[in-house]
Amino acid sequence: MKSSEPTGRADAPEVVVERLDRAHHDCSRFSCGKAPLDHYLRETVERDQDERTAVAYVLVDKDQPAKFRRVIGYFTLNSFAFPKKQARRRDQDRNLGRYNPVPAVLLGRLALDEAFQGRGLGSVLVVSALTQVLTLSEQLGTAVVVVHAIDDEAASFYEHQGFMRFRDEPRHLYYPLATFAAALAPTE
Ligand SMILES: CC(C)(COP(=O)(O)OP(=O)(O)OC[C@H]1O[C@@H](n2cnc3c(N)ncnc32)[C@H](O)[C@@H]1OP(=O)(O)O)[C@@H](O)C(=O)NCCC(=O)NCCS
Repeated sequence: MKSSEPTGRADAPEVVVERLDRAHHDCSRFSCGKAPLDHYLRETVERDQDERTAVAYVLVDKDQPAKFRRVIGYFTLNSFAFPKKQARRRDQDRNLGRYNPVPAVLLGRLALDEAFQGRGLGSVLVVSALTQVLTLSEQLGTAVVVVHAIDDEAASFYEHQGFMRFRDEPRHLYYPLATFAAALAPTE
């Protein structure tokens, strides 16, 4: 998993990730195939942002006018913590730091409009989220990104992206930031 520049495959539009702002982003047409994730973006996310319990970032087409762009993907971030014993034994001793519970960020929701799926943009969303958390970790201690997958298909997607399943909750997965930072480091 490399590059903080958000690019999908050759047949994907050139995209950019922005903080959700209703004045500049059109969420009305968003449809990812999983109704709760569409509903959350259209109806609930602003409440959570107002209450400071979640922040949403959206993927938009760079070629659309900046003042009002259609949302083609999104993810949310929240602060989180989890008992160290839930992680795999080999990670408990390295990559997760010394605190218990482990300070983490929850990648609460992540979805891509169906019209744009299958062109690498799902990976772009994941890399953007991990990059965003890596940047945040310079100001607020956090060791891991956690996801709560909506179903088995989503859990398998995250596993393909390099996340590891928690021992007792197979739909809950984690990705140590140290591992992500190492993947970004230039190789000689
Ligand atoms: C999950 C989702 C974001 C994936 O987006 P996408 O555009 O289809 O995925 P990409 O084209 O970026 O695929 C990236 C890689 O993941 C793989 N992949 C995609 N879905 C997968 C799955 N369910 N299981 C395993 N691997 C999967 C692809 O084969 C590809 O592999 P490669 O890079 O080795 O070729 C999208 O399908 C979606 O929004 N689904 C509905 C919402 C959802 O389930 N969200 C999950 C979080 S709750």
